[in-house]
Amino acid sequence: MSARYLLLLGMVTGLVVGCGKSEPPAVTPPQSAATPAPSPAAATPSTAAPATADAALPAPTPQSIAARKLDPEKIKRGAAVYRTHCASCHGPNGEATPNWREQGADGRFPPPPLDGSAHAWHHSTGTLEKMIREGSPGVGGMPAWNGKLTNQEIDDVIVWIKTLWPDEIYDIWYKEIESKQKD
Ligand code: HEC
Repeated sequence: MSARYLLLLGMVTGLVVGCGKSEPPAVTPPQSAATPAPSPAAATPSTAAPATADAALPAPTPQSIAARKLDPEKIKRGAAVYRTHCASCHGPNGEATPNWREQGADGRFPPPPLDGSAHAWHHSTGTLEKMIREGSPGVGGMPAWNGKLTNQEIDDVIVWIKTLWPDEIYDIWYKEIESKQKD
């Protein structure tokens, strides 16, 4: 458990550095970062292979969600916003599609997962809000939601997205990104 934690911590430290440089096409850094990661994992049991480890992490239990102190009303409202506006692209539970790492013929990547198995959790709440507000229309294909969703709706949907993240991801996100206000 703690080995895996350290491993994830190493990953996030590396990834956060890698991701500051290129803001709009946020999909490229995790790809390159996810590939070299398996080597340090060689010493740990095979279940820890990072490329798949994130997806294999246990889903949060209701208790661990409660420990995050996220407002239940926001979670409920955020789930509705997500279902209406985001699920069609990012998947009903933020899981996206299995081919999300594959660049399409138009040079765009499919919508990435938001469930903690990709890159979204490498951003502070403030950055997520900006990404949702501004999107990457034209370049990356994420619509801009500014003016289409209220501040409250954007805030709510971010809270809901955080409930998708496994405990270990959430803990590292909180300690290494949110509390340090990194990108
Ligand atoms: C038309 C499809 C589409 C819809 C609808 C959509 N997205 Fe996206 N989203 C994308 C794509 C494509 C990307 C990747 C953009 C890029 O790489 O520039 C993305 C990226 C993101 C990211 C950054 C992820 C990361 O790994 O850094 C977040 C957060 C996000 N979307 C949240 C949302 C939310 C919340 C909604 C609903 C309000 C939503 N998206 C609706 C297509 C969509």
